[in-house]
Amino acid sequence: MGIDRVGVLGCGLMGAGIAQVCAQAGHDTIVLEASTELLTRGLDRIGKFLQGSVDRGKMTAHERAATLSRLKGTVTTSDLADRDLVIEAVTEDLAVKQALIAMVDAVCPPKTIFASNTSSLSITQLAAGTRRTGRFIGLHFFNPVPLMGLVEMAPTILTEDAVLKEAAAFVESLNKTLIRTTDRTGFIVNRLLVPYILDAVRALEQGAGSIADIDRAMMLGCGHPMGPLALLDLVGLDTTLRIAEVFFEEFREPRFATPPLLKRMVLAGFHGRKTGRGFYDYGSGNPVPNDFLTRSA
Ligand code: 3HC
Repeated sequence: MGIDRVGVLGCGLMGAGIAQVCAQAGHDTIVLEASTELLTRGLDRIGKFLQGSVDRGKMTAHERAATLSRLKGTVTTSDLADRDLVIEAVTEDLAVKQALIAMVDAVCPPKTIFASNTSSLSITQLAAGTRRTGRFIGLHFFNPVPLMGLVEMAPTILTEDAVLKEAAAFVESLNKTLIRTTDRTGFIVNRLLVPYILDAVRALEQGAGSIADIDRAMMLGCGHPMGPLALLDLVGLDTTLRIAEVFFEEFREPRFATPPLLKRMVLAGFHGRKTGRGFYDYGSGNPVPNDFLTRSA
């Protein structure tokens, strides 16, 4: 059969990246958003990234135009009725994901494969209640999606073998490396990464070093491309908080507990790059560490 027509639910940080790489790989792609405003913002993000690729000589202007011609945005769920694969990439909230999946499940034929890009939730729980429990799988991408080479594939105990094969061929078509994991909270990467970045916040809270020094230490000492606090700003503090809460609920281990500073930053609107401020301030071009965050700690 093969996957050609792809639908992506959500055009935020992850959804936009996923829609982009699908269209870039030659798939007819439709991305669904809740409002035209959010859709325009997401499609603009894709347009800008592709222009950056042209400017860097990584793509021709013709390839950019061809990619955009394969990509359509919509706010109408029924536009996804002819999709071979639908990838859910909306906010990390079980109720929000379940409600949207139910709406799309109702308009797609039984053959459509559903995938979720969840960072922390159970694929089995998301699949339960749909008409396609055997045709449901986890496909977990990494931010920034166009630059990161990995996709984790997480089948449930109900996922059909044929779906595994089709999903694997699809990931290969995106020129990404697939690593197979299981439907366990956090799969492989987040299970290891989340305690590390939460520990970086605890290190900051406990005065182990400044924001810049914690990041530089991990970059220079461990060869990481970016430090844990800069990475938190990239992933989003609000998203990380939600992920940590799900992990803690699942495992009840202190390493998954949310550091108080992270909670307060999210409440104060410091969500990272997406809001222009997190551990760093992004208002003036070069990120500037927000050292006042721990002033009274
Ligand atoms: N088009 C094409 N290529 C582009 C581009 C664009 N618009 N923008 C950047 N690039 C390319 C650059 O040309 C460069 O390629 P080169 O090495 O061949 O020259 C490469 O991307 C790196 O770009 P930059 O030099 O501008 O930036 P950095 O070197 O700082 O890399 C980064 C940026 C790729 C984000 C790197 O810092 C990194 O890998 N960070 C870690 C990211 C990470 O860990 N992500 C996972 C987060 S966890 C997650 O997503 C899971 C979720 O569930 C929470």
